[in-house]
Amino acid sequence: MSSQPKLHTLFRRDEIEATVKRLAAEIRGDYYGKYPLLIGVLKGSFMFMADLIRLLDFPLEVEFIRLSSYGRGRQTSGRIKVVQGPRSEVKGREVLVIEDIVDTGLTTSFLLDYLRKKKPASLKLCALTDKPSRRRIPVTIDYLGFTVPDKFLVGYGLDWDERFRNLPDIHVLEGDIHF
Ligand code: IMP
Repeated sequence: MSSQPKLHTLFRRDEIEATVKRLAAEIRGDYYGKYPLLIGVLKGSFMFMADLIRLLDFPLEVEFIRLSSYGRGRQTSGRIKVVQGPRSEVKGREVLVIEDIVDTGLTTSFLLDYLRKKKPASLKLCALTDKPSRRRIPVTIDYLGFTVPDKFLVGYGLDWDERFRNLPDIHVLEGDIHF
């Protein structure tokens, strides 16, 4: 990187809060009384997951999964591995995957295939952001926060090289950044 990256705010915290509330209402309508298993994809989904579940006023279980994708930079290499799987039994559960962003779709479709093999009673996807212009594999998003342009986003859990996850708003990373 030869110059300081610049941040341009795309979604302020109040817009994110309103969107998370809307998603929570949709999820509540479908999962109330079903004791769902919510599986957050680390690390990017941790902040979204924390805000979302605080708005869900019924019994549910929280798990996280950590994936690694070989290759560096912005592009997912497509060779993905589960580094840390959910400890709870997935079989027979109502499973809802919580993602920060669906970009090419490679990570999410790998994960959904992985979980589907474990025979959940149902399997759905909630994603805070969707970048459809970069999709390489079709992915059905059941609960979607924001559709976003083909820009690199940081903040609210999203990072660039492990930086910026702690920012409360979502920003476009601009400037001379190399992936
Ligand atoms: P996919 O496999 O290309 O859909 O990529 C999914 C993963 O790439 C996400 O879970 C993020 O970790 C990362 N990613 C994709 N786009 C962005 C972005 O704009 N900002 C931060 N991370 C991103």
